Amino acid sequence: MKKTVAALVLASLAGAVLAQQLKPEEMIKTRKANFTVMAWNMGKIKANLDGNFDKDQVEAAANTVAAVAGSGWSVLFAPGTDKDIGGERTRVKPEFFQQPDKVRELGLNFRKEASELARVAATGDKAAVQAQFGKTGAACKACHDDFRK
Ligand code: HEC
Repeated sequence: MKKTVAALVLASLAGAVLAQQLKPEEMIKTRKANFTVMAWNMGKIKANLDGNFDKDQVEAAANTVAAVAGSGWSVLFAPGTDKDIGGERTRVKPEFFQQPDKVRELGLNFRKEASELARVAATGDKAAVQAQFGKTGAACKACHDDFRK
C-alpha cells in the first residue's frame, strides 16, 4: 500500500516535471487537445441521450471526461501561454491569469461534476445521466463564459 502511494506520488511528480518541460506553444496545443477530447466524449454522451442509449459507450465516454478533468491540466496554463506563440493560437482570456481563485473554483467544481457524471454513468440510469450531463455541461460553459474568448 505504502509502495503504491509512493509510486503514485512519483508518477504525479514526473507528470508535473514533464509539463514544465513543454514549451509554451506545446502547452497550448496540449490543453486544446485535452478540451477537444472532452468535447468529443461529451458529444458521444449527448448522442446516446438523444438516440439509442448504450450504457457501455456512455460509461467509457464519461470515464474519459472525468479522467481528463482530473489530469491536472492547470499546469498547461503556465506563464507565457496567455497569447499566440510559435504558430499556436489560444483563445484564453487575460482574466484567466489574473483571477486564479475564480479559475480554481470553476475548475474544482467542473472536476466534481465530471466525477459525478462517471459515477452516474456506471449505474446505467439514463435519466440520472441526463441530469448530470446537464450539470457537467454547465460547468464547462461557466468557465468558457468567463475565461474563453
Ligand atoms: C476551468 C475552465 C474550463 C473548463 C472547466 C472547461 N474549459 Fe474548455 N476551454 C477553456 C479555455 C480557457 C479554453 C481556451 C484554450 C486555449 O485556446 O488556449 C477552452 C477551450 C475549449 C475548446 C476549444 C479547443 C480548441 O481546439 O481550441 C473546447 C472544444 C472546449 N474548451 C470544450 C470544453 C468542454 C466540453 C468542457 C467540459 C467537459 C470544458 N471545455 C471545460 C476553459 C475551460
